[in-house]
This record gives sequence, structure tokens and C-alpha cells, in this order.
Amino acid sequence: MILPIYLYGQPVLRKVAQDIAPDYPDLKNLIETMFETMYKSEGIGLAAPQVGLSIRLLVIDLTPMADENPEFKNFKKVMINAHLVDSDGEDILLDEACLSLPGIHEKVARKSKIRMKYLDENGVEHDEVYQGYLARVIMHEYDHLDGKLFIDHVSPIRKQLIKGKLNLIVKGKARCDYKNKPLGR
Ligand code: NI
Repeated sequence: MILPIYLYGQPVLRKVAQDIAPDYPDLKNLIETMFETMYKSEGIGLAAPQVGLSIRLLVIDLTPMADENPEFKNFKKVMINAHLVDSDGEDILLDEACLSLPGIHEKVARKSKIRMKYLDENGVEHDEVYQGYLARVIMHEYDHLDGKLFIDHVSPIRKQLIKGKLNLIVKGKARCDYKNKPLGR
């Protein structure tokens, strides 16, 4: 099943998401559906608020990019009840995009190193350090769990320049090739 991606303007994208209990209904199914939805829209990561659920669940799959980047091999992850423990290292500036913000790309500064605690799809607890691009992808998705979007990290000037595009998304008039759910639909 493919779920619609909630677009910028939807209030769920601005909520701080909650941890879930181990017996959360149909969790396995939900995780599968989130992967399917992500692949269909050609994303590399998807957070539950992007499908309208305010829970601390995210999925990431970088394995399609593993040919050019050997470090992405086997990097298919489910993070449940994800919590950032620490971030440090230098700020690195790189282009980002988001399925909830179709047509928008902006450079975002993020720390090069993070430490995360989460449960995997089997309920096993992890406490892990990630660096570089992996840290970036996780933090992008993790931000969604805290009600943040990558555009929150860009300068006021850049924000002003993309305002028109943001308004189109809110009005449901932005070009978007995948199943989506703008505000009011
Ligand atoms: Ni995103």
C-alpha cells in the first residue's frame, strides 16, 4: 500500500512526535508500508509524521546508492523511539531536499557526528555513533520527529526567496509526482 506524503503546511509536520509502546498496533505492517511509500516517491528516508502519524518512527534506505558509496552498503534502517544523545564535530553545508517540500532544495549546515539511541524493528535497543552523510540523513529524518523541517535551518534571506514556492505547496499547487496530501485535502 502506498500512503500519501503529507506536505508542508500540514500541522502534523510541526508536532513533536511521541514514543510508542512495543505493542503498537500493526507496527510491522506500518514499517513495510513506509518503505514502500518511500521507494515509490524515490526518497531515501521517511519519518512517520510525513505519513500523518505523530510517532517517533523513521525509515532510511541508502542501499540503492551503494554502488558509488560503499559505506551505504547494508544501510537500511528502521529507528523506533529515536532520540538524539549528542552531536558534535564540524558544521558541514550540503544540499537537502524533502518529500514534504516538493521542488525545494537548499544548503543546510549539520554537525558531522551524532549519537543516537533507538529500537530497531525487532525491539533491540541501539546506541550508535554516525558520521558524515549518514549522520546528515538520520538528522534530516530525526528533525521530522521534533516537528522541524530542513528549511528551518536556512538563512532568513533564503527563506524569503523560497516563500513563493512554500505558498504553492500550502495551497496544493506545487508540482509533485507522488501521492501527496497538501493542507486541506
Ligand atoms: Ni524530509
